[in-house]
Amino acid sequence: MSSTVVSAPARPTGVAAPATPTPATLTPATLAPAAPLAVLGVPGQVNLDYAATAPCARAAADAVAELLPWYGSVHRGAGALSRRSTLAYERARQQVGDFLGVRANDHVVFTRNTTDALNLLARALPPGTRVVTFAAEHHANLLPWPAGTVRLPVPGSAGDAVRAVDAALRELRRGSGGGAPILVAVTGASNVTGECWPVADLARVAHRHGARIALDAAQLAPHAELDIAALTVDYVAVSGHKLYAPFGIGVLAGRADWLDAAPPYLAGGGATLGVGAATHDVRWAEGPARHEAGTPNLLGAVALAGVCTALAEADRAALYAHEQALLARLRSGLAALPEVVELRTFDAAAPRVGIVSFVVAGRDSAAVAADLAQRWQLGLRDGLFCAHPLARRLLAEAATRSGRRDLPPTALRASIGLGSTAGHVDRLLTALAAIR
Ligand SMILES: Cc1ncc(COP(=O)(O)O)c(C=O)c1O
Repeated sequence: MSSTVVSAPARPTGVAAPATPTPATLTPATLAPAAPLAVLGVPGQVNLDYAATAPCARAAADAVAELLPWYGSVHRGAGALSRRSTLAYERARQQVGDFLGVRANDHVVFTRNTTDALNLLARALPPGTRVVTFAAEHHANLLPWPAGTVRLPVPGSAGDAVRAVDAALRELRRGSGGGAPILVAVTGASNVTGECWPVADLARVAHRHGARIALDAAQLAPHAELDIAALTVDYVAVSGHKLYAPFGIGVLAGRADWLDAAPPYLAGGGATLGVGAATHDVRWAEGPARHEAGTPNLLGAVALAGVCTALAEADRAALYAHEQALLARLRSGLAALPEVVELRTFDAAAPRVGIVSFVVAGRDSAAVAADLAQRWQLGLRDGLFCAHPLARRLLAEAATRSGRRDLPPTALRASIGLGSTAGHVDRLLTALAAIR
């Protein structure tokens, strides 16, 4: 498919993008520019950094534009604007919950992003909870957990991951804290490799040992259908800005009991049922409000709900197939470049979403990224992707596998999604062939 507004240059232009480019809708040929899942962008600039922040979908922009005239306080006013805004906020909660496949008794708590959602969950763990996670996680799913967390080594396959969790949980149950709550915290799709983790199998193993499981779906939810009830996952965390919605909105959804029993994540207005005269005389609310003190991000919630609804109504299988075709084109193109080495945890054929990390042997990744940006108007990410333990390990593995001693210490990452086209992929491949 080709974009209506972005085409690959035959050779590097060598000139920067216009200083004040006009925003436009970047649209696969199947989507009209006004279609809810068309994404906004700037002509000439190719975003291959969706895993960091995806472009804004028309559905998000439209949802915000529709509500803006009615913009008013949420849960705090009697006026028509306030009542409409309150309704919009709670309807957004419902829509996002439906999109994630929550159960009837789950809470859907709006947060700032996935990092915030996982920190909230970490703060809501019952005392003595042991957490089991992998060294393959994004820092957001490595760092919030309490002392005593078990960090399993990066597994070599999905099956190894399931066996490692099984063994770790058996060990924990045998140990002194045999009856303590346990939470397994895993990603749905790696932000470094795009590889999908065996979430349903991990959930089954966790529950067999009486443990709960939290899913970091920051990278999975934008690419694949997610149903936490069907997966039997206990908690899920997502970020709006990776789901074609604006920054500053995220979600923690899942089991109510730990969330209702925990101290409020933030103390303040909106989280209370009543405050007495004595210093600690507070009755805290239950439900999502308990952890949403302060005036909430109404526009973020509504924008995210707009995207969720548009995705729920779309042919997800077709979107997935389109992305997979682009991913295959990208990966086979990279494999044909002799100096390029892909990073991977599992084998090359393992299922993955539209994310690929790689290195160009003999070239500094930051310098390559800068060159791609300046001469080709291609936006990629370079570095260790806030997953330092995993990225370092995969760089070492890539050196062994390729037999090259000149791999750089950091990597490049290309990631795609709605609005990505074969032209975008080909521009990257052409650029890499030219600059290596
Ligand atoms: C897998 C994964 N988890 C968590 C996060 C953190 O997301 P945020 O920065 O939106 O909190 C990211 C961000 O890249 C991610 O890729």
